[in-house]
Amino acid sequence: MNAPDSQSNSTGSTVTIDLQSRSYNIAIAGALLDNPLTYSELPGSSSALIVTNATVAPLYAKRLQTALQGKYPNIHTVILPDGEEFKTWQTLNLIFDALLENACDRKTVLFALGGGVVGDMTGFAAASYMRGVPFVQVPTTLLAQVDSSVGGKTGINHPAGKNMIGAFYQPLKVVCDLDTLKTLPQRELSAGLAEVIKYGPIADLDFLAWIETNIDALMAREPAALAHAVKRSCEIKAWVVGQDERESGLRAILNFGHTFGHAIEAGLGYGQWLHGEAVGCGMVMAAHLSHRLGLVDDVFVRRLTTLIRNAGLPVTGPYLSKADNAGRYLELMRVDKKAEGGEIRFVVIDGPAKAAMRSAPDALVREVIDLCCT
Ligand code: NAD
Ligand code: GLY
Repeated sequence: MNAPDSQSNSTGSTVTIDLQSRSYNIAIAGALLDNPLTYSELPGSSSALIVTNATVAPLYAKRLQTALQGKYPNIHTVILPDGEEFKTWQTLNLIFDALLENACDRKTVLFALGGGVVGDMTGFAAASYMRGVPFVQVPTTLLAQVDSSVGGKTGINHPAGKNMIGAFYQPLKVVCDLDTLKTLPQRELSAGLAEVIKYGPIADLDFLAWIETNIDALMAREPAALAHAVKRSCEIKAWVVGQDERESGLRAILNFGHTFGHAIEAGLGYGQWLHGEAVGCGMVMAAHLSHRLGLVDDVFVRRLTTLIRNAGLPVTGPYLSKADNAGRYLELMRVDKKAEGGEIRFVVIDGPAKAAMRSAPDALVREVIDLCCT
């Protein structure tokens, strides 16, 4: 895949998502959050609403508010409870409550300040409040900077299935301030690396090799390594989303590892394993499935497993049922947006930097689950 390089200079990079009238920029650099110039191209309005959570608010909400003060006369903040288990209708409603209590109008700009949970919910609120208001992503986790803030997928979970309710709705801008990653817990950094690693096997073998060489630098948060990882991940995602915004085909490759991963998240209960941990382990399972389908050799499976382990991520799956573990995985995987007529469709690797959608016989999937769960 030939995802083009984007513009960079000594102060950072800008990656553009090219979607005609819905095009926007991803700014990637340090020291963006506090700088009013970061937000200068955004439309003016009498009000803005910062949506964040109880962990991120004390770290960054005041700083964002100060940076926005000259542009928006009335800045409100809503602080959501923190956690994947709160990515629900009830929490979403807190955003609508704040919008209505503060008489926010159609021009109010929402700012999603936090990780993917805050970003997905804020985007969904923006898509539906008064049938659509503008919003900006200010992602503060590695996972959100390399994946969830980009591309316009928004939504919430249902107890029966992950991200089952939502909308495609693009932000006006994505602001990736790399300095915010300094306060991220190590476990969350690893979770973000899962989505970085994902881009290698599906799209860019040079990038996969670069991640392998630089995994220690990434784990140590060396600024140049993180800057490159965020930039290249966003370039690849921009390239995919620019061709298939609403996932009618190509975009599904971004779900490599996610079918198994979503089953782990829903099966254990949201918040037990981090999303990135479930995706990391899910990629190992999807690699084994690709091998059993005769699409890749076992060297590839070992290579990917080693990298995922070196990123501090689990490579063996959890038991979701004592009675019939593989059966429970299969049951959960049938509730997946890629499933068609009850048939599970997996993203598999079927060549160098090449992914495809395939179904597989239940018996084969059972073998993979039995092999990968301990
Ligand atoms: P998260 O939003 O739960 O954030 C992880 C944790 O880090 C939280 O406790 C959060 O409060 C904390 N945190 C955030 N920024 C911090 C900082 N700078 N310093 C200290 N702590 C910080 O999880 P996530 O991994 O960012 O996102 C996962 C979510 O993203 C899942 O719900 C997943 O489904 C979704 N997702 C969406 C897309 C998409 O395309 N929309 C893509 C991938 C994942
Ligand atoms: N994270 C998958 C997608 O954005 O399509």
